[in-house]
Amino acid sequence: MKDAQAQTIYLRDYTPFGWTVESVHLTFVLAPEATRVRSRLRFVPDPKAPAQEFFLQGEDLTPISFAIDGAPVTPEITPEGLRAKVPDGPFTFEAEVEIAPLHNTALEGLYMSRGMYCTQCEAEGFRKITFYPDRPDVMSVFTVRIEGGEPVKLSNGNPVGAGEGWAEWHDPWPKPAYLFALVAGDLVAQSDSFTTRSGREVALNLWVREGDLHKCAFGMEALKSSMDWDERVYGREYDLDVFNIVAVDDFNMGAMENKGLNIFNSSAVLASPETATDANFERIEGIIAHEYFHNWTGNRITCRDWFQLCLKEGLTVFRDAQFTSDMRSAEVKRIVDVIDLRARQFAEDQGPLAHPVRPESFQEINNFYTATVYEKGAEVIGMLKLLVGDDAYSRALDLYFARHDGQACTIEDWLRVFEEVTARDLSQFKLWYAQAGTPRLAVAEDWQDGTYTLTLRQTTPPTPGQPDKAPLVIPVALGLLSPDGHEVLPTTVLELTEAEQSFVFPGLAARPVPSLLRGFSAPVVLERESSREERVFLLAHDTDTFTRWEANRDLARACLLAMVTDGADPDAAWLDGLETVLRDASLDPAYRALMLGVPTQSDLAQALHDRGVTPDPEAIWAATERLRDARATRWAELLPQLADEARVEAPYRPDAAQSGRRSLGSAVLALTTRVDGGSAAEAQYDRADNMTLQLSALACLVQAGRGAEALARFRAQWQDDRLVMDKWFGLQIAASDPTETVAVTEALTRDPDFDWTNPNRFRAVFGALAGHHAGFHRADGAGYDLLADWLIRLDDKNPQTTARMCAAYQSWRRYDPDRQAKMRAALDRIAAKPGLSRDVTEMVTRLIA
Ligand code: ARG
Ligand code: ZN
Repeated sequence: MKDAQAQTIYLRDYTPFGWTVESVHLTFVLAPEATRVRSRLRFVPDPKAPAQEFFLQGEDLTPISFAIDGAPVTPEITPEGLRAKVPDGPFTFEAEVEIAPLHNTALEGLYMSRGMYCTQCEAEGFRKITFYPDRPDVMSVFTVRIEGGEPVKLSNGNPVGAGEGWAEWHDPWPKPAYLFALVAGDLVAQSDSFTTRSGREVALNLWVREGDLHKCAFGMEALKSSMDWDERVYGREYDLDVFNIVAVDDFNMGAMENKGLNIFNSSAVLASPETATDANFERIEGIIAHEYFHNWTGNRITCRDWFQLCLKEGLTVFRDAQFTSDMRSAEVKRIVDVIDLRARQFAEDQGPLAHPVRPESFQEINNFYTATVYEKGAEVIGMLKLLVGDDAYSRALDLYFARHDGQACTIEDWLRVFEEVTARDLSQFKLWYAQAGTPRLAVAEDWQDGTYTLTLRQTTPPTPGQPDKAPLVIPVALGLLSPDGHEVLPTTVLELTEAEQSFVFPGLAARPVPSLLRGFSAPVVLERESSREERVFLLAHDTDTFTRWEANRDLARACLLAMVTDGADPDAAWLDGLETVLRDASLDPAYRALMLGVPTQSDLAQALHDRGVTPDPEAIWAATERLRDARATRWAELLPQLADEARVEAPYRPDAAQSGRRSLGSAVLALTTRVDGGSAAEAQYDRADNMTLQLSALACLVQAGRGAEALARFRAQWQDDRLVMDKWFGLQIAASDPTETVAVTEALTRDPDFDWTNPNRFRAVFGALAGHHAGFHRADGAGYDLLADWLIRLDDKNPQTTARMCAAYQSWRRYDPDRQAKMRAALDRIAAKPGLSRDVTEMVTRLIA
């Protein structure tokens, strides 16, 4: 069990290990309840680091024997590892330990997923496999021997030998232990190959259970596209003879970039048109690219310590977003990313879990695989690129790869290459890594004698441990439009560096309309009192697709807020403007589908809170419903037209063009169901030959209160497909009436197929509950209590997934005192659980601090 008293680790305390590890030899003799792990490690004192006590991390290991330079030794063993007296010079350390993968329900280290052995070592899972300096700055060359009866036995690097009951792997590239991986099981591969631009022939395999072979084609194509893209755009080639991907059903996260042996949550790699939605396909393509790109940004160049996590994650998210933009629609990708950033990262920044992109302390690093580290980390790189320009960006990256290949680096190393390439001082820019919170940007304007003056004022609200904030470098992309809708100033990037700063634009014939924060050039909240007329104008005329969409979103938000607070009617001027956009057949259907979206109810709750109004989830739900009904009736004649435009006749392909049409079609179907009661949805359900159409129809039917039969048919059809059944579970909760959400969830937890120890299934159910704003925030607190019950239960088995789901309570302070008290009570109850994990202890402590 974990150490109860939590220990805080600080960035400022970093010290090197004291030795380098020249080589690592591991032998695994696999058995579900008694796997033997023998290690032979060659240590050499690090001349640059002072000699220290020799300590290796190790957790939940049964020690068998130890030797130094061949002589048996008895190290001191603690719950965290071992301490030993070692020679002054180089030495060989050998250990044999026993572990029980079958009983490893935390899914960290070596564990079993439905009979198959697999590993997850990031961040600190390797210490559950054997004693080791389990820190990313210790990089070594691994040779791995696996013994066992499983037909397929994989590890990192290249295969170097195999025989009856054994296989050996050697990875020539030095790596930290968190990139170690092992897989053994009864697997089959979809195989292919890729020739790198220098002519290296790489064998590609996607390993799955036999029954999943038909779900591999798309992932394989995505892998090849990623390899090609990284060569073309970043000049990065693959560096081993083989690249293996394995799909695993029980996995805490999306996927893992282990060197040469990526391990994926099945949901992040397996897809066929019948079983996966367009959104699933797009996510899979992005995750495959992400993990592949880590080979350079993460593996060849890794992190010195876990505080630098954004060094690899922010950059790799940025790269995978570039890839998706190239493969699909850059405009759509940007909008989708901003929606996601606001929903997850802004929410984090606005609550008790706010932390800098580079945190300064943690108790459990797994709690910092967050939207802030990943998505805001990527935004910071986007800003850097915008500030230095594309050319300097690519020269800086070339220098980064050349200089730091094979090293474990810091954010300082990363910024230094940009400073050297551009001769720019990035010390103020660096605050983006250190300062938590979402900056607010207030805008004032002046117009006199043909001169337009824009004054920007920035403030960043206090966050835990950071009461005062300094001004940041904020790139603000601006365009100016003349009153007749022409662009008089094309996109220009203003560099805001002061707390308040004015920008002057002389020589204009008429007062311009500003189009601010084009492309969402910085992750900030724009506070600008603009009139409805001006927003409607931008919705009609803005030449930047992002700010055009944003104008619509602002109008939708203002409309919904007025409906919530004053019982206002839907804004007719906005709906007219939007209708013109929807009718514009020259616009991408995917873009029009995004225009049909409205802010989430959680987003509205935050907007009310920001305006000093306590959000009432029921009122927000009611207003959102009222707006949807009003749009459905208002557009009764337009909807069939859009449905026609959205129809796809060609055979299913998950590409941008087709999926854009289907997303418009789904948005239209949801509105149509409000007027026809579900007939169109029923027809679509019956003829659907792909999961996208089947699922969107099912959601409409459930929402319309006539889902029972379709749900039963769906279950009968997909009973044996776990990933599809996850959708079946989640959808019923997501599409439920808020008065029913808790009851539906509760009933589903009693379903025989509710395998709650499977993270995907647990998340399908409780992620949907937490995501149903009005349902979760039911006034009597039943939603809070149900989630708390299950988090308390899951913590014994899987602390990591439990801790992540605690974030469902992160906005608790914005609600009324009664709801606050109920959420607080739920959190207190979790905190009081005997033997609560370190992961959840840290989360709950931060949440209630
Ligand atoms: N490095 C992985 C990725 O971004 C995520 C691993 C997360 N692991 C964890 N224990 N939190 O692709
Ligand atoms: Zn990553």
